[in-house]
Amino acid sequence: MGGFWIVKRDICATVFSQRETVERHFLLTVRVPAHFGNALPGQFVMVRLKGGAAPFLSRPFSIYSVSSRGNDTCLEIFYQVVGEGTDIFSKLAEGDLLSIRGPLGKGFDIPPACKTVVLVAGGIGVAPLSFLAQRCREEMGDVELICYLGAGTAESLAGLERLEKICTAVKISTDDGSRGYRGLVTGLFEKDMDRYAGDTVRIYSCGPRAMLKSLQWLLKDNPAVCQVSLEERMACGFGACLGCAVRIRSNGGGFVRVCTEGPIFDIRDVEFSG
Ligand SMILES: Cc1cc2nc3c(=O)[nH]c(=O)nc-3n(C[C@H](O)[C@H](O)[C@H](O)COP(=O)(O)OP(=O)(O)OC[C@H]3O[C@@H](n4cnc5c(N)ncnc54)[C@H](O)[C@@H]3O)c2cc1C
Ligand code: FES
Repeated sequence: MGGFWIVKRDICATVFSQRETVERHFLLTVRVPAHFGNALPGQFVMVRLKGGAAPFLSRPFSIYSVSSRGNDTCLEIFYQVVGEGTDIFSKLAEGDLLSIRGPLGKGFDIPPACKTVVLVAGGIGVAPLSFLAQRCREEMGDVELICYLGAGTAESLAGLERLEKICTAVKISTDDGSRGYRGLVTGLFEKDMDRYAGDTVRIYSCGPRAMLKSLQWLLKDNPAVCQVSLEERMACGFGACLGCAVRIRSNGGGFVRVCTEGPIFDIRDVEFSG
């Protein structure tokens, strides 16, 4: 791991709007400086309340979208309430101030020759993949975009509406079978997997660690390139605390920092059992 780091400064961002889309999942839109317009799918931001109030540590979130609205640049974050910080964020309203650092980390690689993009999203892992789908649609025209979207129940399917507008097809799984395939999203993906083996196919995934581990196993004999976004816990977000280190298989099996060397990795390079 490198011995020095470049720290991006926190900027002050104003909340533009916030709404709950499905239970405990919030779409937060904030006004940000224009340089956020260069953000890449897969990059993330560190967010905390302006003024040092709790949560004291910033929380990392993938960029769900960036767009221009009149003279403003707006950043969307799509998050699930899981603990203290996200519970506090869920009370934010128009005009509230946030401290945001970013865009941070590396984005997904999208080779221009790619003809089929396959997304495998588990729960709120949909956030970076939806931004990726949107960018692919804008920049690669009629690329085939197939999304496998999994959730616990039909009511907790997050981000579906937007994906249905962008993707060629959205295939749904729910753990309880209340919508689509009954079972895990990796099980649904496995049924079609043999279609996705050529040089012009790219697979991208984000979701719980167990899901990514299972996808890695499924792809062991499939030559398609697959990149994943890892959502490790982070404290600093800029390479200083080493709290986000994960073991990789390349370079003799050392550790890398998800915040700076990631959060995007080749799925075959990640040591999920470590
Ligand atoms: C690069 C990156 C991108 C992310 N993008 C998103 C996103 O777009 N939307 C979103 O909802 N979340 C995203 N996350 C996860 C998000 O950062 C955490 O859910 C959030 O920090 C939890 O804060 P909290 O204070 O509410 O929870 P805490 O009070 O800190 O923790 C509550 C519970 O959640 C667990 N938890 C906390 N962080 C994580 C984590 N990273 N992975 C697994 N379990 C965790 C804790 O172990 C605990 O059980 C991302 C994380 C990373 C590293
Ligand atoms: S979060 Fe501190 S090094 Fe990655």
